[in-house]
Amino acid sequence: MEGKFFSLIFLCLFPAISTLEANDVEANKGCIEIERKALIKFKEGLTDPSNFLSSWTGDNCCSWKGISCSNETGHVVKIELQNYECFNDAGNYYGSNQNASCLGGQISTSLLDLKYLDHLDLSLNSFQIPIPEFLGSLGMLSYLNLSLAAFTGMIPQHLGNLSNLRYLDLSSDSSLQSNDLYWLSSLTSLEYLNMESVNLSLASTHWLQVLNPIPSLSEVHLVSCELQNLPQSLHTVNFTSLSVLELTGNRFKSPIPRWFSNLSTLVQLDLTMSEITGDVSAVIGDLTTCCKNSLEELILAGNQISGHIPHSLGLLKKLKFLDLLLNFISGPIPETVGNLTNLESLDLSYNQMNGSLPESIKMLTKLASLGLLQNSWQGILSENQLQSLGKLEYFTISSSNKSFTINVSYNWVPPFSLKDIEINDCLLGPKFPAWLKTQKQLSTVILTNVGISEAISDWLWGLSQLRWCDLSNNQITGSFLPSLEYPSPALQKSTFNRSNSSFTSWHKLYNLNLAGNLLSGPIPANIGQVLASVSMLNLSGNFLDGRIPSSIGRMRNLISLDLSNNQLSGRILDNWRHLKKLLVLDLSANHLSGTVPGSIFLLPELQKLKLNDNHLSGDLSNYQINNASILQFLDLGGNRFAGKIPKWLGGSPLALFELRLRANRFSGSIPEEVCNLIYLHILDIAANYLSGSIPACLGQLVHMQIVLPFVPISPISAFKDIAEMDLVVKGRQMRYGKTLELVNILDLSSNNLSGEIPKEITRLLALGTLNLSRNQLTGNIPEEIGNLRLLETLDLSHNHLSGPIPRSMTAMTFLNYMNLSYNNLSGQIPSTNQFQTFNDPSIYEGNVGLCGIPLPSKCDAVSAGDAEDEGRMKGHSVEEDGEDSTKLEFYISMGLGFIFGFWGVFGSLYVYKPWRRG
Ligand SMILES: *[C@@H]1O[C@H](CO)[C@@H](O)[C@H](O)[C@H]1NC(C)=O
Ligand SMILES: *[C@@H]1O[C@H](CO)[C@@H](O)[C@H](O)[C@H]1NC(C)=O
Ligand SMILES: *[C@@H]1O[C@H](CO)[C@@H](O)[C@H](O)[C@H]1NC(C)=O
Ligand SMILES: *[C@@H]1O[C@H](CO)[C@@H](O)[C@H](O)[C@H]1NC(C)=O
Ligand SMILES: *[C@@H]1O[C@H](CO)[C@@H](O)[C@H](O)[C@H]1NC(C)=O
Ligand SMILES: *[C@@H]1O[C@H](CO)[C@@H](O)[C@H](O)[C@H]1NC(C)=O
Ligand SMILES: *[C@@H]1O[C@H](CO)[C@@H](O)[C@H](O)[C@H]1NC(C)=O
Repeated sequence: MEGKFFSLIFLCLFPAISTLEANDVEANKGCIEIERKALIKFKEGLTDPSNFLSSWTGDNCCSWKGISCSNETGHVVKIELQNYECFNDAGNYYGSNQNASCLGGQISTSLLDLKYLDHLDLSLNSFQIPIPEFLGSLGMLSYLNLSLAAFTGMIPQHLGNLSNLRYLDLSSDSSLQSNDLYWLSSLTSLEYLNMESVNLSLASTHWLQVLNPIPSLSEVHLVSCELQNLPQSLHTVNFTSLSVLELTGNRFKSPIPRWFSNLSTLVQLDLTMSEITGDVSAVIGDLTTCCKNSLEELILAGNQISGHIPHSLGLLKKLKFLDLLLNFISGPIPETVGNLTNLESLDLSYNQMNGSLPESIKMLTKLASLGLLQNSWQGILSENQLQSLGKLEYFTISSSNKSFTINVSYNWVPPFSLKDIEINDCLLGPKFPAWLKTQKQLSTVILTNVGISEAISDWLWGLSQLRWCDLSNNQITGSFLPSLEYPSPALQKSTFNRSNSSFTSWHKLYNLNLAGNLLSGPIPANIGQVLASVSMLNLSGNFLDGRIPSSIGRMRNLISLDLSNNQLSGRILDNWRHLKKLLVLDLSANHLSGTVPGSIFLLPELQKLKLNDNHLSGDLSNYQINNASILQFLDLGGNRFAGKIPKWLGGSPLALFELRLRANRFSGSIPEEVCNLIYLHILDIAANYLSGSIPACLGQLVHMQIVLPFVPISPISAFKDIAEMDLVVKGRQMRYGKTLELVNILDLSSNNLSGEIPKEITRLLALGTLNLSRNQLTGNIPEEIGNLRLLETLDLSHNHLSGPIPRSMTAMTFLNYMNLSYNNLSGQIPSTNQFQTFNDPSIYEGNVGLCGIPLPSKCDAVSAGDAEDEGRMKGHSVEEDGEDSTKLEFYISMGLGFIFGFWGVFGSLYVYKPWRRG
């Protein structure tokens, strides 16, 4: 907001201004000796690595940096030591990290000698001590700012003695706490209170009671204070001057209470992500009662508010910011929205709204930001509605079912110049709309699934501010970067010159996503120069052919490179060593051949490597892996790799989450080193030529033993596709995204494995899929197999297993696919629990000794009785369990599993910063 911006400038300038004033004082009166001594003593207690207080010498303390004296009396009235040097190069506050230029040390009680001190600002420093109690005795203070000064521990109640205090800023970096706020109610002159990130969880019950009686209170900021209680009733509402109430990031789990309707001077209300519930019509109804002539900002993003927006919204005429992002609001936007003629920002994204956009939107002539993502809008957005939105800079809309159309005449020239546009799942194409081409200031262009089916327009390549470009899931044709001239490789060195090429413009591009289109032809050889700034490049799911250009090896900013699902061929060049930031490399589903360059495995940051479904070959066992590797996903399946499974895979640092070597030509036995990969959730080495026995040590794979969520190593893993893997489950290819942490797969099928199934496998209690089919396994099915209670898929078919089907298997109540065919199993097929649903005889066929339903062969009475007895003896009182909870509930009851859901939404929100206040 502009206001905040100006106050920041003001604070920056302030020290300079006060020094000027102080110089005047010096000429007149000088400084009082006892106060000078007090300040010297104060300075001696401090640590000052950057010599921030170097001016604190000489007689006239009134001229020292940060000190101001009164014109009339000469007394020190202000100490302002907020220290902008206490930031690191990246502009972040050092806080409790040592070694910045922050002041620290002790705060001397000598300050008590400054009897007229009115203003004390120690913000932006790093004291790392509790707030001194004696500050409560600086009785004249009207302003106390201890914000971001790394004070720790309990806030002393002594501050309640500061009866003249008007401004109290204790916003912290999370090391302060207060369990008892009653001292606040004695601050009867308080106008401004900020306790951001102070832990008030134990003061939750009375925070409101203590603030309510303070009649002068005008601004309250209690952001991220761990408050859990928002009292629904309040006997009398006394804070009659309240204009700013910011309660973001608390955990209220209740609606906005009715007493809000008495806050008659409210200007800003911010309850972002505070677990607010209730009906939006009640909220807006109450706010129109109290403050239709005052309310300018209403920010309720990220809560659980539902209901329809009422027509009374139009009464809030002063409203500038209305943000209802990420709630459960339904119904249409009321026509009365057009009465909010002061509105600058409207965000209704991520709700369940529908209907068409009201015609009256055209009245919102001050609108700069309009966010309408992820709802079910219907109808048409017309030229007429947009024609007067001359200030619009940020515009987003998406709609389920492509039920919304943006339809303007061909030669319409919009009145606005957008900076960010995002349109998803609406009808916009088939051509790049001509009006878009008038927009030259764009830094974000996201047009996904909008039916564009022509070649990329020249307009896009001329956008000099472009940072984020996502045109995925359209039918864009032509070649990649078609309109540009590519100097031939021979000429590149001499003639490629930023200033005279059209790529001058492209030095800011961070993300380019053209996935899922109809692009064809080769990737241009000079892509590495053209897209030198790009960090995320996704060209997957097109028809690109030819080789992977070697200049990609020069794209040193690359974090993620996805060229999968194209028709790229030739060898993978050995040019990866400069891509030190690369986290994701996906070249899968192409026609790449030859060996894999070893430098790929040495990339220091690589977390996900997918080379599957190509024609790659070679023996990987002599490769080396970076010894600090953080690789988590490795998929080499569907190639022609041969030789033994490399032992380095089990080398100590690897924290592999998924290892997929399926459908290659690996031979020899399964190395025991694989058992060192204790983080594995997915081990798929099926369809190779592996022989020998199944290592019993596989039972040590801890993450298959207990249900653990996958916690990404770095936040960047939150990119929503990083954990999306193609997995073969239940015989078909499924795409797992958010719920990957729930998937645990052991697939050793279609090899030549022999010997018995080690009973240790039955320790992998969290397995969802176990496939050992099509091997040469002998012996019995381990009796303890029933321990695998979460198993959904079990395939042991086409082996030489003998003996009975263990009764314990009736405990596997999630099992919905089982195949035991073509073994030598015998005895009666169990008939309880899940087995009642397995009525397809083919899953038992080829076992001559099996009898009972659904096979035609009946069992004789004796063997049936034996089987029942056996079940009872083992003590598997299966029927009693009668679990009818769904699997997901089971996981949730273990307190796990929502981490991905969180990153799914907030990860993608985080990626690009939409237009915001300030
Ligand atoms: C102090 O002196 C300056 C300059 O003479 C004057 O502008 C300012 O108003 C005075 N302040 C007070 C509080 O009298
Ligand atoms: C902190 O600074 C001191 C002196 O400047 C230096 O000796 C020390 O290594 C620094 N410590 C850290 C953690 O940077
Ligand atoms: C307190 O200090 C911080 C940092 O210097 C500043 O941003 C904030 O506005 C100050 N608080 C008040 C109430 O002036
Ligand atoms: C200040 O407050 C503390 C605690 O609330 C109290 O014990 C003390 O007597 C007060 N001191 C003065 C000078 O009022
Ligand atoms: C806040 O304080 C409560 C009570 O002392 C404590 O249980 C909780 O962990 C604290 N929260 C944080 C984030 O430190
Ligand atoms: C609160 O307001 C009521 C009614 O206006 C008044 O009677 C009462 O004294 C006030 N309470 C305080 C603590 O100021
Ligand atoms: C408010 O909006 C409604 C519906 O668009 C309109 O009929 C009414 O005249 C508007 N009121 C004012 C005061 O602009």
